[in-house]
Amino acid sequence: MKSKDPIFVTQPTLPPLEDFLPYLREIWDTKILTNTGPFHEQLESELCNYLGVKYISLFTNGTIALIAALRTLRITGEVITTPYSFVATAHSLLWNGIKPIFVDIDPATFNLDPEKIEAAISSQTTAIMPVHCYGRSCDVDKIQKVAERNGLKVIYDAAHSFGVQRDGGSVLHHGDLSVLSFHATKVFNTFEGGAIVSPDALTKQRIDQLRNFGYVDEVTVVSPGINGKMSEISAAFGLLQLKGIDEALLKRRMIDSCYRKGLAEIAGIRCPLEPGEKVSNHAFFPILVQPDYPLSRDALYQKLRDHCIFARRYFYPLISDFPMYRSLPSAAPSNLPAARQASERVLCLPMSSNLTVDDTIRVVDCVAGS
Ligand SMILES: Cc1ncc(COP(=O)(O)O)c(C=O)c1O
Repeated sequence: MKSKDPIFVTQPTLPPLEDFLPYLREIWDTKILTNTGPFHEQLESELCNYLGVKYISLFTNGTIALIAALRTLRITGEVITTPYSFVATAHSLLWNGIKPIFVDIDPATFNLDPEKIEAAISSQTTAIMPVHCYGRSCDVDKIQKVAERNGLKVIYDAAHSFGVQRDGGSVLHHGDLSVLSFHATKVFNTFEGGAIVSPDALTKQRIDQLRNFGYVDEVTVVSPGINGKMSEISAAFGLLQLKGIDEALLKRRMIDSCYRKGLAEIAGIRCPLEPGEKVSNHAFFPILVQPDYPLSRDALYQKLRDHCIFARRYFYPLISDFPMYRSLPSAAPSNLPAARQASERVLCLPMSSNLTVDDTIRVVDCVAGS
């Protein structure tokens, strides 16, 4: 790779185009393009096997899945959530007329701090929506205890958590529902896509109705549903992607360990997350740019750009700083010091299964100052 070839923060893993053509031919032959077609049904079943979950409902994207998940559990009033996430997390609340209540993160994990949740609960609170940030599991046991003590539901935004394990099982088993994103930038993608993991057949049935305008049969509509259906093209692509997912995850792990070795000696740069061999999907590679590094986080971001290396400041700005949220009392900077510090210091280095060892050396050399 030439030194000026761009290295993007992420790139989709794509199978050879020829491998996708038979799927397309089948779609052309059957003329089934959407509405729970055969590829859709097969992908739901294969994902259940792969992820080790019982019930999954595919969606057109993760944001619509989040909105539908809240609707499924009839969540209203106030929901406790994190400001340190992609904006869709909180937007899904606004789309349901719910008031987000921001609670600070644990600076060691970047996830909602379970010790701070209880103080934010009011008589209007009905649920908690934590995010498994960077694909690393929240403290699900503590969050569950808080939820049980206060009669709250828990919906995990698990957009980053494809294939992540905890205590030997899928992280998606925790909470009342978990929502995945299969966007092009994710570890597993279906171009656009998402899913809700649910604990029982009845909940899945309700989700599936909501996903299809609320229809239960040709003439009966039981809820104000939405069009959240995944098309056959996306589902077929997902089936093909699943064949290569283990190899893609191994490549990410290799890139993760190259970065760690390369960055270990650079003063002022810290890799804040443990390697997480068994519990991570290496969706992101965040570094912390500390005060003893010669450049600010933003100056390093710019320097990398100047070298055609496109790191990203995930998550900056905080969700709570966007105009539709910043007047909320819980968005006050004094309420969210750990999230603010993370948003000012974290830089996510390029991470994808397409990167090479040479790419990581180029990135590390640039961070090291050479
Ligand atoms: C934490 C988080 N939640 C929700 C979403 C929304 O998912 P989608 O892009 O599939 O709508 C994303 C990313 O895209 C995300 O990173």
